Amino acid sequence: MRILTGMQASGNPHIGNYFGMMKPAIQLQNEEKDEYFYFIADLHSFVSNQDAVIFKKNQNNIVLDWLSVGLDPEKVVFYRQSDIRAHTELMWYLLCLTPMGLLERAHSFKDKTAKGIEATAGLFTYPILMAADILLYDAEIIPVGKDQKQHVEIARDIAQKFNHRFGETFVLPDASIKEDVGTISGLDGQKMSKSYGNTIDIFAEEKTMKKKIMSIETDSKEMGDVLDPDNCLVFQFHELFENPDLETLRNQYKNGEIGYGGSKSQLFELIWDYFAEARTTRKKLESEPGLVEEILWKGALTASEIAEEKLVKVREKFGLVAHHLGS
Ligand code: TRP
Repeated sequence: MRILTGMQASGNPHIGNYFGMMKPAIQLQNEEKDEYFYFIADLHSFVSNQDAVIFKKNQNNIVLDWLSVGLDPEKVVFYRQSDIRAHTELMWYLLCLTPMGLLERAHSFKDKTAKGIEATAGLFTYPILMAADILLYDAEIIPVGKDQKQHVEIARDIAQKFNHRFGETFVLPDASIKEDVGTISGLDGQKMSKSYGNTIDIFAEEKTMKKKIMSIETDSKEMGDVLDPDNCLVFQFHELFENPDLETLRNQYKNGEIGYGGSKSQLFELIWDYFAEARTTRKKLESEPGLVEEILWKGALTASEIAEEKLVKVREKFGLVAHHLGS
């Protein structure tokens, strides 16, 4: 089965992003029965960020983030949307089949403009670029967050319409909804989210990470008091990061042999070590931008071959010549 998803840069990844999205995606890459296509949706990001310097930095960072936490470009096709022109070209053809009303009903457009975001044609037609991303590759399963489910349904509707009018061309995609990352708590016990300011960033500086961990909310019991491991946010993080000495720690909690400060110091060491390899990889990749571009280039070559083949089929159906000049 072919599984495809796009990722947009959204600032520094935190532990909620890691356990909610990155780690599961990376574990899946080892399932040999399926094929994975993961791409950086930079053309989608362009809708809301058109400052060249910031844009470039964000796009570069998201590539580094994914490669550092273990995305393996030998196992998944990893590419950058803007490297493959077929996406924007197919978008135009699909736009010409898209009733305005279908886009007018999109929740995401309505929500964004209600928040005061400028209603550009780019924002309005965003779901059709997404449809092109999906349909070019005959992807069957599209793992997305709840907020993107409707967009995958739009892609499916358009594919159906196209197939009906021009004959079987596109595979109909289905969304697979990722469970909310809400199961990961932030420093204050609410869902970890950038908008709540309660995150622990994966690649935070040592001092910053330590400070954050020391600020995890607890009750006001003191050293020597009996602590309840099952009712302690710090302990929850020890579990999440699979502390190998969890049972010892549990007993120390119950016997009043450890305070929250001590538990937090241990937790810092645990988390810091957990991401040690990712930090090393990131440093290496940062110092070798040529290597990162080479990885993306290889991914784009594989992806574009598939995309071009599909595009030729589409062009022929419309009565256009199969190939452009130069391809
Ligand atoms: N719009 C998606 C998001 O914001 C990202 C995306 C772009 C995507 N193209 C896609 C996801 C195609 C799945 C398939 O999360």
